[in-house]
Amino acid sequence: MGIAVITMKASVIEMFLVLLVTGIHSNKEMTKKVKRPKNTVPQIHCDIKAGKIINPEFIVKCPAGCQDPKYHVYGTGVYASYSSVCGAGVHSGVLGNSGGKILVRKVAGQSGYKGTYSNGVQSLSLPRWRESFIVSGETTKAYETTPEPVALMQALTISAAEPPHTSLPKPSPFIISATSSPRPQPAGHRSQETGEVDLWKPGSVLLDAGFVPKEELSTQSLEPVSLGDPNCKVDLSFLIDGSSSIGKRRFRIQKQFLADVAQALDIGPAGPLMGVVQYGDNPATQFNLKTHMNSQDLKTAIEKITQRGGLSNVGRAISFVTKNFFSNANGNRGGAPNVVVVMVDGWPTDKVEESSRLARESGINIFFITIEGAVENEKQHMVEPNFANKAVCRTNGFYTFSVQSWFGLHKTAAPLVKRVCDTERLACSKTCFNSADIGFVIDGSSSVGTGNFRTVLQFVANISREFEISDTDTRIGAVQYTYEQRLEFGFDRYRSKADVLSAIKRVGYWSGGTSTGAAIQYALEQLFQQSKSNKRKLMILITDGRSYDDVRLPAMAAHHRGVITYAVGVAWAAQEELEIMATHPARDHSFFVDEFDHLYQSVPRIIKNICTEFNSQPRN
Ligand SMILES: *[C@@H]1O[C@H](CO)[C@@H](O)[C@H](O)[C@H]1NC(C)=O
Repeated sequence: MGIAVITMKASVIEMFLVLLVTGIHSNKEMTKKVKRPKNTVPQIHCDIKAGKIINPEFIVKCPAGCQDPKYHVYGTGVYASYSSVCGAGVHSGVLGNSGGKILVRKVAGQSGYKGTYSNGVQSLSLPRWRESFIVSGETTKAYETTPEPVALMQALTISAAEPPHTSLPKPSPFIISATSSPRPQPAGHRSQETGEVDLWKPGSVLLDAGFVPKEELSTQSLEPVSLGDPNCKVDLSFLIDGSSSIGKRRFRIQKQFLADVAQALDIGPAGPLMGVVQYGDNPATQFNLKTHMNSQDLKTAIEKITQRGGLSNVGRAISFVTKNFFSNANGNRGGAPNVVVVMVDGWPTDKVEESSRLARESGINIFFITIEGAVENEKQHMVEPNFANKAVCRTNGFYTFSVQSWFGLHKTAAPLVKRVCDTERLACSKTCFNSADIGFVIDGSSSVGTGNFRTVLQFVANISREFEISDTDTRIGAVQYTYEQRLEFGFDRYRSKADVLSAIKRVGYWSGGTSTGAAIQYALEQLFQQSKSNKRKLMILITDGRSYDDVRLPAMAAHHRGVITYAVGVAWAAQEELEIMATHPARDHSFFVDEFDHLYQSVPRIIKNICTEFNSQPRN
């Protein structure tokens, strides 16, 4: 920031203080001049932030409707000055929805503000702010007789273009402009026409003066702290390659890239937050999400990172991040998607597929940037060919970058920022609805009967309908059995929900005996053999009677292969047999209804248990 600007600011503030004092001293005269009763309380808009009004204590009149969530309030009881004055009034219970007068008192900045829901207003959390305020009912003080409201009014209508000693503030109407720019802007806006400093632009001179004690005016803290780009609210973890093979020069390029990204992202508490983990043999957190909460601090910290050396254990680093990084203590925010960007020089020295799957299942979106990846004759050395595509949730190229040379890496910064901020498309991490291969094993024995068989198919369709079905989301397959077994359709046969549902409808009733054990064995070989390694394998078996063969061994084989088995019995099904087939604990995986017409009751219970089980998976 130029010295000139600082000097200009300082002089404007001085001028302002003089005016304020003048205003108070000549209060009587002034009130006469402006023909305003001295107890007039200024009316402000809902979106006026406390930081815009420099007085340490003031009374204002709020209009109705300030409980609207668009007027952001940060904190509870004590509010960050970045909050709507009137919104805080409603949140604190001092102000009703119909508006009214409130007394506002400035207090010191806090290291954290906690959002709560109160009096119909949801306030937000903010890690820190330079100044706070509290609100109380204005009747608690005899303010009507003091000059402050009038002084405040002058403050609010002041024009820096007017020489302070020769004329009093214009008797213009109350003119706080209702700007609600989400971020403070560089200081010192000048109106082209009049040369007046627009004192009420966010981030302009008086705003800063309100935040910063006068003696600090010459320090850096005049720089407005950005709240961050609200259109890119993500919690981001960069995994950077610190392995020995990368070399000093490339490591420096990597840091420069990180700094470029930090700059482009506009880091801040209401926008993206970014932490960095460096990996080599082992990973280590350089800084977490809340260590540096603006782009400038982050860039300074990035510059200081030193290379760890060692191997390139990316899989281990991803597991580390899944387990440790996105914790509340590290600044993880509930409403912001978790994103990991992995930088890899060449290829990893360990496998990434499994650790990435677990990361995605815990809700982390993974991007891979491979720089100078393996060329054809190097591919034989790779631990895991095509590792980047195995790590990401879609192989359509959105989540992967392949950069030919470190020296061209800088061109990736802008497209990366664009994709990371595209929060709509980040919803591709795994959920219980989009990450399974579900194989139905359907009893087609004679005892079921044609009508009931239709009900069973309806049941299969009703369960399938709950899932997100596509070739990259949940896939459905089906086997029908009697003494014999047949594959009705495999996992990769149909790629949409509509196709799956119509295929279920078309399954023809077979009729015959009941060899459930053999059917499980068959399903493992013919159906689950084709399941992808990154899918959860769920078998849902429906039977109406006791099996002719032993189910014990096939059931154990299913458990060993990681196929989670739900056993659904109807009518003559033997409950102890259901419990043997079902995955442990049996009470969560076996269901019994006494007749086919009651089968529908198990649909929501099965879905619920599938999701509960999914969500209770450990994060490592
Ligand atoms: C399937 O869903 C339909 C529509 O909700 C319902 O009428 C029917 O009873 C359900 N049947 C089974 C077996 O779940």
